[in-house]
Amino acid sequence: MDSELRELRLAHPRPEPLMALGQKLRRHHPSERAIWLMQQLEMYWDALRLQAFRQPLELYFEAQALQMGSRWPLAERRALELAARFPTLRLVEIGAGIGGDTLELARTRAFRTIEQDESRRSYLQHNLEACGFTEVEVQGGDGLTRLDGAQLLYADPARRNAKGRQWHDLAPDPAELWKLGLPLCLKLSPGLDESQLPSGCDLDYVSHQGVCKEATVWTPGSGRVRAFLYRDPDWLVAERRETPPVAPLEPGMWLHEPDPAAIRAQLWQPLEGWRIDETLALLATEPGLRSEWTQTFEVLEIADGDRKNLIRLQKHYDFQPLEIKKRGFDVEPEELRKKLPRGTSGGAGVLYLTRVAGRHRALICKRV
Ligand SMILES: C[S@@+](CC[C@H](N)C(=O)[O-])C[C@H]1O[C@@H](n2cnc3c(N)ncnc32)[C@H](O)[C@@H]1O
Repeated sequence: MDSELRELRLAHPRPEPLMALGQKLRRHHPSERAIWLMQQLEMYWDALRLQAFRQPLELYFEAQALQMGSRWPLAERRALELAARFPTLRLVEIGAGIGGDTLELARTRAFRTIEQDESRRSYLQHNLEACGFTEVEVQGGDGLTRLDGAQLLYADPARRNAKGRQWHDLAPDPAELWKLGLPLCLKLSPGLDESQLPSGCDLDYVSHQGVCKEATVWTPGSGRVRAFLYRDPDWLVAERRETPPVAPLEPGMWLHEPDPAAIRAQLWQPLEGWRIDETLALLATEPGLRSEWTQTFEVLEIADGDRKNLIRLQKHYDFQPLEIKKRGFDVEPEELRKKLPRGTSGGAGVLYLTRVAGRHRALICKRV
């Protein structure tokens, strides 16, 4: 381990301006080494913020691999589920990056991993050793051609370019992996088109830090679709269910905005809720019904959403701070805010611009 890097990270555990530190490092090191140390320090801060690795202190990072890498609670959950579903099969990971998944898989089993990029592979080796995982076998080359003895595959494909939306824009190509017919766990973008997945696979949408970060596809499966939401240190989990009907929204009712993974997985929580519009994921309930999957608002008034009316409403309610939210309503909240009177004493409130039964409406709300 690079003890100087470790000391540097311990001495600077939180983001700070790098100018003075950079000058100091340059006085004591060749500039290439000083730059590397500073980059490693900055990426350590990112890793902590993103929860990208369980114990990042001693690890080496590479910028792109860190951005693509799995957040450790998500990687841990997947590794544990892989162990529960397929406890005895010989696992091969294709495309390890610098080890976001590898380090969590290594806590559950011995396996082989293949990373084609040489510099990432050397960081991966370092990271495995730094964490004491010497039983993981690391190989180079194209993983698709090195599957001898594999009984189970894991892959987290990388985008070949920023634009591509097809399977062949990913490396490795999921379609190639499914063709192999081996049990497979695949981490994909949550924006995937479900109709392109193998029939009968299981699908998990997973949320972290308020964002639906990934979709995990399991083959073989039973067609189950679930959402997972990380509530440190536990996971909330629920399954897809039938879409509830649309029914009226009235003042006094509670409005529920689901977590992004719950929207993708179509959990429709709370269970007692009804939709307020055919095209939206927002649900309404009688007051008093809460769900851990949603942010909840008490609806005070339902009004027209034209500019004149919004100014009148804000004058009346006088919200400060005023939160402006939108769903299915073409408006730029920060632009709109500039046009509304600034509240003084009305307390915190929410202007929720959305569609109700096909009509654009302004909902005056309080967060519950
Ligand atoms: C998204 S990254 C993996 C990130 C990793 N799961 C993590 O959490 O840190 C995908 C990696 O797969 C590698 N890769 C892509 N195609 C490959 C192939 N056919 N064989 C081996 N590695 C491959 C890329 O070099 C890249 O590092």
